[in-house]
Amino acid sequence: MNQFACEVRAGLNKPQKELPSKYLYDDLGSALFDAITVLPEYGLTRADSRLLHRLAPELPRDFSSVAEFGSGSGLKTRPVLSALSPQTYFPIDVSHAALERCRRELAGLSDIQPIQASYIDGLDCMNRRRDAQPILLLFLGSSIGNFDSPCRDIFLRQARARMKPGDAMLIGFDLEKQVEKMLDAYDDATGVTAAFNLNLLARINREIGGDFKLHAFAHQAIYNADERRIEMHLRSRIEQTVTIAAAEFGCHFREDETIWTESSHKFDADELPEIARANGYEPEAQWIDEEWPFAENLWRAA
Ligand code: TRP
Repeated sequence: MNQFACEVRAGLNKPQKELPSKYLYDDLGSALFDAITVLPEYGLTRADSRLLHRLAPELPRDFSSVAEFGSGSGLKTRPVLSALSPQTYFPIDVSHAALERCRRELAGLSDIQPIQASYIDGLDCMNRRRDAQPILLLFLGSSIGNFDSPCRDIFLRQARARMKPGDAMLIGFDLEKQVEKMLDAYDDATGVTAAFNLNLLARINREIGGDFKLHAFAHQAIYNADERRIEMHLRSRIEQTVTIAAAEFGCHFREDETIWTESSHKFDADELPEIARANGYEPEAQWIDEEWPFAENLWRAA
């Protein structure tokens, strides 16, 4: 059984059914996510981009290369590459199509060496190709908020363990704001976010022989105030059974039972330096967007 089928079966067997969010980003999922970033309700990417334009000229000049986790189409990276003119840029992404778009988008700004891999595997691959000069690692768009807190810390330490002294990470965190505003950002009126979420079921149908009827599920975003996160779910509109051939698996749903597909944690700007230090980084600078509370942070490998 392939890994996708194994993970789908394990997730759907839990009492609160869940699916690993990394599978949201196949080629169609990445294209849908690009559409999310331009939704009027989703202010996050515009805040990220405003901050990157503002901070790029203030970045230290000692980085010879730039790497990026989840580069996507590379659009938001342009101001950083223009300011730093790095020798090499290593975009790391699981989507081949996104890496191709990224290569076209940023052609001419650097020697672009795409790495199609998950974050940590990609970092290992980059380390085999890099030189001894300091590297700036970009982790933009608040993807860090998609980890739950224990996994977030494990991830930050795994990344830190692969960084050399002098390397730094520029990392974005979305900040807490009005609940209504947060919910709208994850449940837009045009239904793009719903399509992005439902594509995960469509992908199971396409790749591992699932028979999910997409119309029988509804996208749902809720704010979990205790955990300070938006949770994305797919709610079964009816009682039903779904089978997934390659996972040799049948799965029963009660009416209104949900599959939890993703969380997006929201932060307080003041807690970010603590998170840095707890995981082996020295916080060096922070930039905040006032219009859409969002914080960009420069952390040095301590
Ligand atoms: N990193 C993005 C975020 O947390 C991911 C995201 C945006 C997302 N919208 C989504 C994930 C909808 C799942 C469903 O803001």
